[in-house]
Amino acid sequence: MGMQVVSLTLVLATCGLSLDNGLMRTPPMGWLAWERFRCNVDCSTDPENCISERLFMDMADRLAEDGWKELGYEYVNIDDCWAALQRDSQGQLVADPQRFPSGIKALAQYVHSKGLKLGIYGDLGTYTCGGYPGTTLDQIELDARTFASWGVDMLKFDGCYSNSSTKAMGYPMMSKALNATGRHIAFSCSWPAYEGGLPPEVNYTLLGEICNLWRNYDDIDDSWESVRGIINWYSMHQDVLQRVAGPGRWNDPDMLIIGNFGLSFEQSKSQMALWAILAAPLFMSNDLRAISIQDSAILQNKLLIRINQDPLGLQGRMILKGIDDIEVWMRELSSSTMALAFFSQRVDMPYHYTTALSQLNITAPDVFSVLDVYSGWVHHDLKVDTKFTVTINPSGVVVLYLYPEKSLVKTQEKKRP
Ligand code: GLA
Repeated sequence: MGMQVVSLTLVLATCGLSLDNGLMRTPPMGWLAWERFRCNVDCSTDPENCISERLFMDMADRLAEDGWKELGYEYVNIDDCWAALQRDSQGQLVADPQRFPSGIKALAQYVHSKGLKLGIYGDLGTYTCGGYPGTTLDQIELDARTFASWGVDMLKFDGCYSNSSTKAMGYPMMSKALNATGRHIAFSCSWPAYEGGLPPEVNYTLLGEICNLWRNYDDIDDSWESVRGIINWYSMHQDVLQRVAGPGRWNDPDMLIIGNFGLSFEQSKSQMALWAILAAPLFMSNDLRAISIQDSAILQNKLLIRINQDPLGLQGRMILKGIDDIEVWMRELSSSTMALAFFSQRVDMPYHYTTALSQLNITAPDVFSVLDVYSGWVHHDLKVDTKFTVTINPSGVVVLYLYPEKSLVKTQEKKRP
């Protein structure tokens, strides 16, 4: 009886509390134009890299043909600067006719034909951040209907050129308007990033009800300084942020910039590892037509993707930071497994870090198997009190996937006839 009451309350709470689209039960994965391609609208001198239908079709081709889609990278997302500078005579947003001659509906069809999804960008305000037409409160329903009629699957809704009270009205309105279209359109809200990212200005309970993901903090740029600044902000505020994330509702530390110009190999591995631990959306912003095998391998690391996509959807956290500038991060995963990341903010040389699981407050079960996520090295029978040493390169990371020793035995036993 007690059990029944509990589950009924849970069902009611779920119905009332989540954005009613059932989407993104695990963090979304895909590609987003902004960090790499910005607002490059010069298609006459830079036809391959300007914001145009060609760019998005190229990326859809790469996602579909180079193994990305099978790993879960399914969204092809347009960012700012896609629209014509004026709405049409009916007041509808239209794509720039030179750069998107076939229109967004045709682009959505193309993307869908590859088994992928299309995301688009709008802005709650008089203009987008790049100066293109924004969405004012009275245009919200029309724009939601327009996006749905084009077959769009996700909307990133930015917040330039509007004030806090307009945002407080507009974001819930757009959420409702998207639901009312009857099309499942995932909703990415930039709202908290405009309000400092923290309570009391930001109401994360409400955001979880109306958005599938939200940008909390500054824009990412193509530099380690930028990535590090973001990581540090998320660890500093993890007590607030960790508990607000879960299936259908994710904190978004912004795009993966692996494959561009600003990160070393170690730093690239660190970004991917921490984004996995943080249960972050994995939107790459890079040129998939010209990415190295090394960078692809980081972004396509199956175990890191599995960690990121764990069905429990619990965001991980930094559990220890020493004066040695080594941080230990941990994410609890389903089936009594977990991910541990040893992350170095040192700038000198590879550092030998010695610890034991019990020193990290991991005490049960007594024995684990350990898989080093990047090297593939496996170690069995690691007792929680046994000391071990990892070597972490400057601005690099060592990620360990831990699973109870017994689970291995069980799988083997099951296989026996
Ligand atoms: C803001 C957003 C970025 C990007 C640009 C586009 O800065 O935070 O992610 O969408 O606008 O102009």
